[in-house]
Amino acid sequence: MEMAISFHILWGVAILISVVLGFHSSAVTGNVERSIHYNWGTQHSEILGTGDDDATLVLDQTSGSGIESKRSFLFGSVEMLIKLVPGNSAGTVTAYYLYSGGEKHDEIDFEFMGNKSGQPYTINTNIFTQGGGGREQQFKPWFDPTADFHNYTIHWNPSHVVWYVDNIPIRVYRNYENETIPYPSKQAMRVYSSIWNADSWATRGGLVKIDWKKAPFIARLRRFRARACKYDGPLSISKCAAPTPLNWWSSPPYNQLNSAELDKMKWIIKNYMIYDYCKDLKRFRGLLPGECFKPQY
Ligand SMILES: *[C@@H]1O[C@H](CO)[C@@H](O)[C@H](O)[C@H]1NC(C)=O
Ligand SMILES: *[C@@H]1O[C@H](CO)[C@@H](O)[C@H](O)[C@H]1NC(C)=O
Ligand SMILES: *[C@@H]1O[C@H](CO)[C@@H](O)[C@H](O)[C@H]1NC(C)=O
Repeated sequence: MEMAISFHILWGVAILISVVLGFHSSAVTGNVERSIHYNWGTQHSEILGTGDDDATLVLDQTSGSGIESKRSFLFGSVEMLIKLVPGNSAGTVTAYYLYSGGEKHDEIDFEFMGNKSGQPYTINTNIFTQGGGGREQQFKPWFDPTADFHNYTIHWNPSHVVWYVDNIPIRVYRNYENETIPYPSKQAMRVYSSIWNADSWATRGGLVKIDWKKAPFIARLRRFRARACKYDGPLSISKCAAPTPLNWWSSPPYNQLNSAELDKMKWIIKNYMIYDYCKDLKRFRGLLPGECFKPQY
């Protein structure tokens, strides 16, 4: 799969060092304007006032654009409401993800691959641990992701990572670090969202190109909320990993899906999953990654 590679070449050039503001209050950040800033394509994107809590990501022939959280976090529940590019979005990718940076980076992704008008987006999920990715699972949306805002949440704690869409878990990646399967548990991550031109691979393997006559392509973001442990350097690793009441996202009810969630996820997997790396024997030449043999939920 090409997506991870192009993704990182882009970010290599696009990421600027961010200004970290010194919040001292609780582990909650709200308001888009207060907690994120643009790191790319500023000239044509905007954060629309504090009241609206709304931001736009714009792609035109000059550039894409992206935002980044000022803070980095280690574990927590990170939410964004997103309304994707409507109409003919073929060749565009809108991404929402956590990313640590560094040579052996960790990363947890939602990527929305556009399509021609009337054809479904692909929701791609992936996870990188210590620099290694290639763990894609993909879904067709069961709703029109361009008609309204939908809630994309990444719940990340020492037990597992859960990808939620409108409160429905669509994927779980469990921590089997003790059995030498890599897990993102030591590197803090910032929250990113961006839109970019991926027409060399994103839609039907690159066959469908961006129709620039339809530019600008605009995705909208709303109500960013990171209820997450703020990372303040290596000393905060143990603070963030501790199962204290402040770190509620790591408490027992959040260490495993409940049975109602499990039922919903199984229904989504059965009806809407379109790709699972753990079933792609050909790609891995018969040697599937270790986590594919472990129960994930
Ligand atoms: C978004 O989804 C998460 C996970 O289900 C949930 O905790 C949160 O309350 C939701 N946020 C909104 C604004 O609905
Ligand atoms: C891994 O092993 C350590 C030591 O036995 C234990 O404290 C920890 O809870 C284990 N982690 C997981 C995710 O099972
Ligand atoms: C776009 O629509 C076509 C036809 O329904 C489908 O095969 C494809 O998977 C869709 N998504 C992308 C990203 O190409």
